[in-house]
Amino acid sequence: MDDDGSIFKTIEKGGICMRQPVVGISYKTYVNTVDKATELVKALAEVATNEQAVEKFVFPSLGVVYPVAQALKGSDIAFGAQNISPYENGAYTGEVSIESIIDMGGTHVEIGHAERQHIFHETLDMIHLKTKLTLEKGLTPVLCVGEEERLDNKEERKDVLKEQILTSFGDVDKVLIPKVILAYEPVWAIGKAEAAEAVYVHETHEIIREIVQEAYTTEPAEAVRIIYGGSVSKDNVHEIISHDDVDGVFIGRFGHDPANYKQILETVKQVKRKG
Ligand code: PGA
Repeated sequence: MDDDGSIFKTIEKGGICMRQPVVGISYKTYVNTVDKATELVKALAEVATNEQAVEKFVFPSLGVVYPVAQALKGSDIAFGAQNISPYENGAYTGEVSIESIIDMGGTHVEIGHAERQHIFHETLDMIHLKTKLTLEKGLTPVLCVGEEERLDNKEERKDVLKEQILTSFGDVDKVLIPKVILAYEPVWAIGKAEAAEAVYVHETHEIIREIVQEAYTTEPAEAVRIIYGGSVSKDNVHEIISHDDVDGVFIGRFGHDPANYKQILETVKQVKRKG
């Protein structure tokens, strides 16, 4: 639950309730030393002042979450883990427990990124356990979904995404769905020079909201945030987020430069400022 007891991350603007826009960054395993990671997030925090309208989080490389947590103290940028163990506590050698993330003040957990699924063989069942645990603990799951190959046939695309979304949610209580941030990350657009074309992204975000609506009714579908990730940059962000069903972006490589980050943040803020 949020501080106000609501699970709906909406903000009031001129009497209209809107979904709060989101800008997240994952540093994957690119920035792994204490000095570099803390220097970087401090630079982000400096350029992200007075941007409360946008929910911001970073996922540092897992080995430097603690120093990053310290470096972000007092800033307006949240942090969390790129992955967690599906089990809270116990004999699970080598896993990172959500208990540690909570203890450090983390609020978000990235779940099911394509690299975890393809390189580390993470299954949808595991993704479900992680999603459920994260919600039970009151953190925000940033649940990644996306087709492996470009699918121009909308029905085919919907089928693939539906299977991923519904299996990942599984028996999660529908009242918790709005707490999730769905990160649409087409696998074929990750780590590329260009993002997926905006029109394709917009169409897919509509499809994802429709999937949630069909499975869980209109209210959760209207409340859940859906963000796009996959080669997002300062140059393509404007077009990508210029659609009502795109609530923000999830940045990878192009978030390493604080100046780019600032520009992306500004663009999201401007485009999503309504009313
Ligand atoms: P990229 O990474 O922006 O470097 O493509 C995005 C992601 O994997 O979330």
